[in-house]
Amino acid sequence: MRQLEDLGDLQGKSVLLRADVNVPLADGAITDDFRIRASMETLVWLLRQGADVVLCGHLGRPEGEDPALSLKPAEARLRELLAQEMPDCPTSRVAVLENLRFNPGETANDAGFVAELVESRDCYVNDAFGASHRAHASIVGPPQFLPSAAGRLLAKEAEVLLGLREKPRRPFAAVLGGAKVSDKLGVVSSLAERVDALLIGGAMAFTFLAAKGHDVGDSLFEPDFADECARLLQSDIRLLLPTDLVARGPEGQVQQTGVNLPQGWAGLDIGPGTAAEFADEISEAGCVFWNGPMGMFEDDRFAAGTRTIAEAVADTPAFTVIGGGDTAAAAASFGFATSSIGAADPAFNHVSTGGGASLELLEHGDLPGLAVLRD
Ligand code: 3PG
Repeated sequence: MRQLEDLGDLQGKSVLLRADVNVPLADGAITDDFRIRASMETLVWLLRQGADVVLCGHLGRPEGEDPALSLKPAEARLRELLAQEMPDCPTSRVAVLENLRFNPGETANDAGFVAELVESRDCYVNDAFGASHRAHASIVGPPQFLPSAAGRLLAKEAEVLLGLREKPRRPFAAVLGGAKVSDKLGVVSSLAERVDALLIGGAMAFTFLAAKGHDVGDSLFEPDFADECARLLQSDIRLLLPTDLVARGPEGQVQQTGVNLPQGWAGLDIGPGTAAEFADEISEAGCVFWNGPMGMFEDDRFAAGTRTIAEAVADTPAFTVIGGGDTAAAAASFGFATSSIGAADPAFNHVSTGGGASLELLEHGDLPGLAVLRD
């Protein structure tokens, strides 16, 4: 991919910077500015080269203009951070466009919208790794018209994740969790060929458990995907599933259980035996990729499994990569630093800003937003 230096002299140039400022909000306030902080390195670099920057990004999935999904809070945070890093930089050198998805042309990759975005700009930089699996106008359009390059965050994410895909330190353990197996079967199949152990927790484990003939009670379960799970279970992959659970019963009671659940009971966390077994695998790995919580970690009663995994990933001498907003939020909720790319990060070697993007890059080895930045 073309890098920032390939853009040449940027003094006085107008650079369109696609960043990922898709941050969680509660009552209009940003609850986690991880992605905004991760966008700063490239922004500051461009400004130091003398460029003027027009920054654009999306927030949520609005249907038309939705004031609740305005980019204004993200812009305010970005300007605060910028004032700390470059106190002498005039505000006017950075313009922030409103949420790109207010215009249906963004997700439709509409040529007219691309033309609007590139008008009067000299160069384009994509630093929005988290959105680079989308063939949207602001991701794949501008490189057709402007000299373009990958920002520092995008380049780092691609290097780390492709390194994991192509030449992982062995043994390579992947820990996958989260709610939906349907979102992850593609990456499970692709990772299965590359990893030495696949550890599966979270609600997505129940479709595998059901495919093995267990009763999953009222746990989340996607019957349409049971056949595919059964096929993976019959393959040569070393696939570890929960052997015990923490479940909630019909009266709201919470109990440690085995993996067969009666009706009315739902598994909401992996049990301590499973957590210990997964932690052992992680401690013996040469590299670890972790995406997705092991249970409903937001509720303390169902947080222990995810906490044990976070601790094991933080403690292992292995090269560790964690990916996805939920995973980073889980790690942060247990007190682990999930600091931005490039910053000293004692707990994990790399915290990816992209959930879907990191999974798709591991699965396919490329993303639409990366492909367009190659010669
Ligand atoms: C993300 O949050 O994963 C990215 O910003 C992409 O958002 P999307 O899933 O709404 O396209």
